[in-house]
Amino acid sequence: MSRSIGLDDTLTAYVRNANPPEHPVLARCREETDAMGEISRMQISPEQGAFLQLCARLVNARTAVEVGVFTGYSALVTALAMQDMHGGAARLYGCDSSEDYTAPARRYWAEAGVDGLIELRIGDARETLAGLAGEIGGTADMMFVDADKTGYEAYFEAGLDLLRPGGLILFDNVLWNGSVADPAKVAADADTAALKALAETVRDDDRVHSAFTAIGDGILLAVKR
Ligand SMILES: C[S@@+](CC[C@H](N)C(=O)[O-])C[C@H]1O[C@@H](n2cnc3c(N)ncnc32)[C@H](O)[C@@H]1O
Repeated sequence: MSRSIGLDDTLTAYVRNANPPEHPVLARCREETDAMGEISRMQISPEQGAFLQLCARLVNARTAVEVGVFTGYSALVTALAMQDMHGGAARLYGCDSSEDYTAPARRYWAEAGVDGLIELRIGDARETLAGLAGEIGGTADMMFVDADKTGYEAYFEAGLDLLRPGGLILFDNVLWNGSVADPAKVAADADTAALKALAETVRDDDRVHSAFTAIGDGILLAVKR
């Protein structure tokens, strides 16, 4: 399971307990994904989930996009808040390139009763987002990006097309376990370089207001002006 940089086990447990309890289907999704082994580190942590859910409420998310679904935890977190606020009028577009990773996601969404509001689109997210721009361009309230790191700059541009003014885009893993602050790692690794470039792009882009936070492995937030 992923965890926040710099927090030991005691503090991680404290943070988890200080958040609202996980929905039982979320807890099962996390436990069963943990059983997949090392790859389970791709899943967001429960405390990141609580943060994401609150963000969905803050922007009153009715239309949202997720890039990087995996076994469905972050989409379920978001969809639960959206359903609570907007019922059947909510719509979450999930983008992932893998049928295999996302197969369990569909099951968890159905068990939690939010499958009717999540539309999963399988394919390269660059193409999926380009298609979505023609359908929901300028109307999305929120977008969560948690996929291939070298695609983040393209997802930022796509997000600006999809979001309404005041809409929120969030990028996960922007600390990349601390690598982004190590020039040798930035020089040696394309993912690390892409994340560092993204942070600078978003910080300097006057189309957004932004905040770079150290939640989990780092979450970069930007609100479209
Ligand atoms: C870090 S995981 C997402 C974790 C998920 N947000 C969660 O909380 O469980 C990254 C996902 O991005 C997907 N992915 C990677 N590259 C992609 C691309 N170019 N287009 C669409 N999905 C991609 C992978 O298949 C994988 O499921």
